[in-house]
Formats: sequence, structure tokens, C-alpha cells
Amino acid sequence: MAFETNKDVLEWYEKQDRTLTNEFIDGLPWHTVKDTPLDPKFIPVLLYMRDVEVLTDMYHRELQRTPTGRDPVISKFMERWGIEEITHGQVINRFLNEAGYETPEDWQNQTHRNVTKTYHTYTYLLTTLTNLLGSRFTGTHMAFGAIHEMSTAQAYRRMKELANHPVLSMILEGIIREEAAHTHFYWSVAKLELQKSTTAQKIARKVIETFYVPVGQGSLAKKRAEYSVATLFSGEGGVDQIDRTVTQRARQLPGLAGLTKVTTRIGGICEKFRPSKIAAAAALLISVNLHAIL
Ligand SMILES: [Fe+2]
Ligand SMILES: [Fe+2]
Repeated sequence: MAFETNKDVLEWYEKQDRTLTNEFIDGLPWHTVKDTPLDPKFIPVLLYMRDVEVLTDMYHRELQRTPTGRDPVISKFMERWGIEEITHGQVINRFLNEAGYETPEDWQNQTHRNVTKTYHTYTYLLTTLTNLLGSRFTGTHMAFGAIHEMSTAQAYRRMKELANHPVLSMILEGIIREEAAHTHFYWSVAKLELQKSTTAQKIARKVIETFYVPVGQGSLAKKRAEYSVATLFSGEGGVDQIDRTVTQRARQLPGLAGLTKVTTRIGGICEKFRPSKIAAAAALLISVNLHAIL
């Protein structure tokens, strides 16, 4: 689907129905969650996914301080996008509780409190830089967003296959459908923005090559990000899946031909974090996260 303006992309997005409605969530067979065992190694990954999702309101507030976030079309998208991502986090949390992993009542506040200091400093610098660059940075924001949405959807796909839990699969299918709509918005606006100038393309390429890390790393602890990536993608075909569905799609954006960054970064983490380390790290991360010491 080719769009001519950002407004066309927004109109398309606004026509998409939500999947994770209250009716959908209430209708899930929650009482059967415990009937199927869930490998404990996936718990830290689900906690990581949950936290990345609910931190979206922080990313949203940060973007509002930049030319990208002040763009009327993009800010309209972000209002709904922010709500959808928070639902994803809340549904994952409910699944964890139903599976027997209790989480603190104020887990959302705790997740916000646990954001690293480095992240806040880095964000302040990035916001200043983007204000200096003005709307030429919008293509970068959108390309980054597309990469994060695509890789998030692949992480959910991988979780669905590996965990093979019927209720979790229903939840993840719903989330994946909403992530696909987010991807389409970000990718399409990135394409339109990057087409406008070679300077915007050069900035996007440089920033992605220099700063790309898995979604959530930076705001959350690096070890949690790396554990999640390795648990999902270090097995057979994992890195190839990222290459095919994320890197190669990002390469189709103006100025990003030949990009290898996402594949090399994810591949590097999988290489470093051997499966033998995963079981030991899982036990530690489960106890640390559930008691919110991190
Ligand atoms: Fe999400
Ligand atoms: Fe998303």
C-alpha cells in the first residue's frame, strides 16, 4: 500500500480495529492458564516485554518534547499507540499472575522507578540534539520506531512458538496484530520522511548504525534485554528470522540499503549468551524481577 502523505497513513491506521478490546480480554479462558505448564525460562522474558510495553508512556512524553512528537499527524497516532502498548503490558502481567507469578500491586510505578539514570541523561541529550536538527530527525525517529515494532512483533512470534501455551498464544496473536499496524504506520511515515532529503537519510543511517540496541535496552537493565533476546533468538533460525523480517525490511527504506546493524547486534548477543547460561540466569532474573529489587 503506497501512501502519498503522512495524513493518508494516519487515516489508514485509524480505520484499523483494535484487537485487544475489553471483550477480547474478558473472553480469554484465564481459568485454564494453569492447565498448561510454562517453562520458567520464559518468565523473565515476559516480565521484560511487559515492562517495555508499559514504559511507552515515558517514551511518548519524551517524543512530545521533540519536533517529531509535535507533528500533528504523528502525535495523533501516538495517542492511540500509547494506549495500545500499555494494554499489551497489562495483559502480559495478568497472564503472569494467572500462571502463578504474583507481581506487586504497583508494578507499573515500580517499572518506571527502575528506569536507569543513564537513560534519563541520554534522553535529555538526544532531545536537545533532535530539537537542533528539527524535522530532519523525524525520519530517524520513524525508522527507529519501525525497527523496534518489527523486532517486537518477531519476539512475540518467537515466544508463541517456543512457549507453545494456548492462552499465551491467543494473547500474543492479538498483540502481534496490533504491532503489525504500528509497524505499518512507522515504516510508511519513515519512507515518506526519508524521501524528502538525503540529509535525513544520512542522519537516520548514522544514528541506527551507532545507537541501535534491542527495544527497551537503555531504559531497562542491559542484562534483562540480552537475556530476553538470547532466550528467544539464539535457537535454530532465530537470527535468520530477524535478518529476514527486520533488517531486510528496514533496508527498503530510503538511505538504508545494505544496512546490517539489527542482525549483527542481535546475532552478537545470541553468540555471547550461550543457551547453557540461560537456565541459571532465568532463576536469578525471576526472583529479582518479581521482588522488584532491580
Ligand atoms: Fe506492544
Ligand atoms: Fe507496538
